[in-house]
Amino acid sequence: MKLSSKISQSMNKLIIANWKAFLKTSEAINLAKNIPMLENIVISPASMHLALIRGLCPEVRLASQDISSLSYEHGAYTGETTAKMLDDIGAEYAIIGHSERRSSGLDNADNIAKKVQNALSSQIIPIICVGETKADRDNGQYLDIIADQLRSLNLQTDQDVIIAYEPIWSIGTDVVPSSSEISEVMEMIRSTLKIAGKLILVYGGSVNAKNAKEIVNIPGVDGVLIGKASTDLVQFKEIIRQIC
Ligand code: PGA
Repeated sequence: MKLSSKISQSMNKLIIANWKAFLKTSEAINLAKNIPMLENIVISPASMHLALIRGLCPEVRLASQDISSLSYEHGAYTGETTAKMLDDIGAEYAIIGHSERRSSGLDNADNIAKKVQNALSSQIIPIICVGETKADRDNGQYLDIIADQLRSLNLQTDQDVIIAYEPIWSIGTDVVPSSSEISEVMEMIRSTLKIAGKLILVYGGSVNAKNAKEIVNIPGVDGVLIGKASTDLVQFKEIIRQIC
C-alpha cells in the first residue's frame, strides 16, 4: 500500500526531510542512521547518497530531490536518474519542481509536468513544490500564480500526488506565513486540483522545532517539508518527537 493511502487512514502527519546539497557523505550517513524509522518520515538525500543510505538503512523511506524528465525507463540518458532507477532502490517518492530548481532555470512548467508523469509511470509518488515569490504575494497575485503552477501539471483526478506549498519568501529565511495564510492556499490547492481521493498537502519554508507542531495543526496541513532544520540531528529529532 502506498504511504499516501496509509497516511489518510492513520492521520499521522507526514515529515519530509529535504537535505538539498547540505551534507557530506559521512554526515548524511550519520544522520540517516540516527533518525527514527517511522512510516511517516521520508528522507530526501542528495541523489549520490540515495543507494548508499538505502543499503545502510533498509527501513528508511526515501525520496529523490529530482527525477528525469526524459524517460521513466532505464536507457541512454547520460546524467539522468529515472523513475525506474529510483524504484529499483526502493525510493517511493520524488521531490519535483523545487523553487531552487525553478528559479535557476533547471525546471520549468513543461519539464515539471513530464517529471510528474514519469514518476507516476513507475509508481513513484511525486512531491510537487509550488509557491509564490514575495512580489507575487505583495501584489495579490499569489493564488493565481500557484493555481497556474497546479494547472500546468495536467494531473488526472485519480493520480496519487503530494503537493508541497512552499512560499519562496519563506524558504531559508525564518519567515513563516500566518496560519490563515497557509490555510487559504491549502484550500485553494484542494479546490483547484479536485483529486478524487485524499490529496496530501504539506507546508515547507523555515519549519523548525519551534514552529513545526503549530504548523502541522493548521487546518488543511497534512505534514511538513523541512530543509535546513532536518539536517541538524538534535533539532530534527525534536521535531519528530513533537509531531509523532
Ligand atoms: P527550509 O527549506 O526548511 O530550509 O526553509 C525548505 C525547502 O526548501 O524545502
